[in-house]
Amino acid sequence: MNYQVFISFKNTENNEFTNDKFLSERLYKYLTEKGINTFYSNMSLLEFGEAAYKEVIDDALDEVTLMVVIASKQEYLTSKWCKYEWHTYQQNILTNIVDGSIITYLGEMQLSDVPTAIRHYQSFNINSTSVETIGDFIINALNKKLNATQAPKIEQTLQNNTLNNSNNIEFKKKTASYYDSSFAGEYKRLKLQGESLRPCDMPGVNYVKEQLNYKDKIYILDVGCGYGVVGRDRFKDFPNKVIVGVDILEPVINKARELNDDPNAHYECLDLLSENFDEEIEIIMDKYGIKKFDICFGAYILQHVKDPIKTLRNLRCCLSDDGYVIFRQSDEGTYLTYGDDGLLKKICERYLKAPGIDDRFIGRKMPYFLETTGYKDVKMFGTFITTSGMDYDERINLYKMRFSLRTMYYKKALEKDPYSIEAKNELEWMTYALDKLQEVFGSPAFWYGETMLVSVAKKK
Ligand SMILES: C[S@@+](CC[C@H](N)C(=O)[O-])C[C@H]1O[C@@H](n2cnc3c(N)ncnc32)[C@H](O)[C@@H]1O
Repeated sequence: MNYQVFISFKNTENNEFTNDKFLSERLYKYLTEKGINTFYSNMSLLEFGEAAYKEVIDDALDEVTLMVVIASKQEYLTSKWCKYEWHTYQQNILTNIVDGSIITYLGEMQLSDVPTAIRHYQSFNINSTSVETIGDFIINALNKKLNATQAPKIEQTLQNNTLNNSNNIEFKKKTASYYDSSFAGEYKRLKLQGESLRPCDMPGVNYVKEQLNYKDKIYILDVGCGYGVVGRDRFKDFPNKVIVGVDILEPVINKARELNDDPNAHYECLDLLSENFDEEIEIIMDKYGIKKFDICFGAYILQHVKDPIKTLRNLRCCLSDDGYVIFRQSDEGTYLTYGDDGLLKKICERYLKAPGIDDRFIGRKMPYFLETTGYKDVKMFGTFITTSGMDYDERINLYKMRFSLRTMYYKKALEKDPYSIEAKNELEWMTYALDKLQEVFGSPAFWYGETMLVSVAKKK
């Protein structure tokens, strides 16, 4: 991360936040707004044990150029973590691990009250010096350390912090979740997921193929098609077909067109919840000479839309009367683990509170959604995926496909509010927890299983 400044303070006393925590937060915000990478310790990491917390702190202490010790009371200076932090950093300075310095920002106390190790560093009084003055002092001190050519770096970082949104392509319209298939790395993950989950989709797809075997030509609508790879793969054995893939994101549709090698597949931008859905889909159907679709297929789409019921209702209008819908959705209630000491459960519980999160339990709701929107003969195809029999690489791929995405929602929250300590802490927590989960997935002592649900239903 390349932290420049570390803020050390006592977080709580008698189960209440200290004033120093709020001072530290203000200083953190002031510095990050000015583009300084500031480390503000995240106590929630203590949930993983002291070793985990220390690991994160130690990494930061190995790289910062400045530590600010905030203590409004003398005893805070020797409180467990505050002391650990300044003591370790002081050792790092003395042993030349870092070329750093310490500033103290203290309440009313005698010089003799301050531990000898940090007594002779530059000190400021909390009651007579504002947080902004301390912040400016820190920026000046950092600037002095940088040589003339590096000096503009601080300005530069500020720009990067505020404009680092190249992956943040705006949704055309408001959707329920922050999910963004154009996010860095997401194409690769979706591709991997598409390949791995083929066996889950095929029983439903083959069932529909058999029901429609009297038709000469099959028209397929792939909703929320993403890069189009999954839809094309699932219907590749349909002899005479036309696929139209639609997705809300224009850059994703452009990429789907680029990747498309099938003359009978077409990709168009469309919001499934558009007010004018009927007209917009009709324009697309006219373009390809389609009267109605025979199959409407969607892989991991309904949990991301604002209103799945309205989406299903919209789709009825472009489906032939004897047409079918096929939706793959998962449900976190089907997760089973052994040997992770409750880690995955912890991650899932935390994830439910992520900003802009999608519906993690939609799988079980599909029969209800389909029946209330007029579809009939609902069939649920379940396929159990498990680590049993997998080698190391396959286990890690399973982890990547199912869990690595989970930092995206926090990164998006941080993009929206780059100075939010809460968003930063949540991202750090999830990053750390997922790192541990990846380690666990690599171990043969860990077992994981999940049921993938594919629902199939007929229009009439
Ligand atoms: C998890 S991805 C799945 C992509 C593809 N089906 C696959 O399995 O690789 C969900 C896709 O739904 C799209 N999406 C979300 N809301 C949508 C909406 N209201 N209308 C159309 N597409 C939407 C997203 O842009 C994203 O590409």
